[in-house]
Amino acid sequence: MKAPLRVAVTGAAGQIGYSLLFRVASGAMFGPDQPVILQLIEAPIEKVMKALEGVAMELDDCAFPLLKGIVQTSDASVGFKDANWCLLIGAKPRGPGMERADLLKDNGKIFIEQGRIIDAVAAADARIAVVGNPANTNCMIAASQAKRLSADRFTAMVRLDQNRAQTQLAKKAGVDLTAVKNIFIYGNHSPTMFPAYAHATIGGKASAEVINDTAWLQGPFCETVGKRGAAIIAARGLSSAASAANALVDHVHSLVTPGAIHSVAVKSNGHYGFDANVWAGMPVRTTTPGSYEVITGYAMDDFAKSKLATTNKELMEERAFVADMIK
Ligand code: NAD
Ligand code: LMR
Repeated sequence: MKAPLRVAVTGAAGQIGYSLLFRVASGAMFGPDQPVILQLIEAPIEKVMKALEGVAMELDDCAFPLLKGIVQTSDASVGFKDANWCLLIGAKPRGPGMERADLLKDNGKIFIEQGRIIDAVAAADARIAVVGNPANTNCMIAASQAKRLSADRFTAMVRLDQNRAQTQLAKKAGVDLTAVKNIFIYGNHSPTMFPAYAHATIGGKASAEVINDTAWLQGPFCETVGKRGAAIIAARGLSSAASAANALVDHVHSLVTPGAIHSVAVKSNGHYGFDANVWAGMPVRTTTPGSYEVITGYAMDDFAKSKLATTNKELMEERAFVADMIK
């Protein structure tokens, strides 16, 4: 039996937490032979901690063979202690009429503190995945606090956008979802993100050839994927949760699976023309569990270049807006 992985989860009693934890404990994230200890972190509010207790009771009641322990705490230095993975979900979600960037100042503060504590107490091999919005910039803020852990350990999630884009292409082409490959998300997890349809294939052929409708690909397709989060808030009155949790399972599972190729927001280091210091979605290939290399060299046409410039500009503006929070 492998040694258990310690998985810290913030916002564990929230909507996404409730959809996520049972799948982590069942083995969907780290595999059917990998035991886990869940270190659940919540805000120090009596009602919330009580709800967390209920979630822990339900986890117990599932009798998951891989679940070797549950920590419940509102103290981040306890929750992140020796954690191998830190899943940063806890943050305010946006409501109707808000953009994700409207959350920056409030949520940014959470990520300053958590970045600092993770750097001090998490395991030497710690990996961090940020979901709380605005995810790219929160990830940048958390990473800026770290001295021990390198920036490449900090990733933000754009996998929900990749999954959304894959489904939209399959529906338009009238094919099974599994026929769609290599659809990657570039830039910010916001309406400016760019789903690079030109590199996607459908049944082994170029997506543009199969769909044969450039106006749809450049217009409604990009718009539907970019504004899907708002469409869900308008329909449900709450932001996406089960699909977000599912995307986080995919994000981490792909990051621990050597050879997996997937979209992740990482420190750009200048790839694809992004400012070197922003966290931008781009395709990566997992090398060893938890580590990855950016797949460079996808050619961009003029339309793609203008979309990349727009999403990069927004990321730089977010960075400037939180300049006082970055170390
Ligand atoms: P929620 O309000 O249901 O749950 C958030 C939880 O975080 C709450 O239980 C709250 O008590 C907790 N929390 C707040 N501050 C905390 C702190 N400092 N430490 C620990 N816990 C803390 O929200 P949700 O629907 O689960 O969404 C959480 C975040 O994820 C939001 O910011 C939302 O916008 C974002 N989100 C991102 C994506 C994505 O694709 N990146 C998708 C969906 C939602
Ligand atoms: C989403 O994309 O569904 C989430 O980021 C929630 C939101 O605010 O859109």
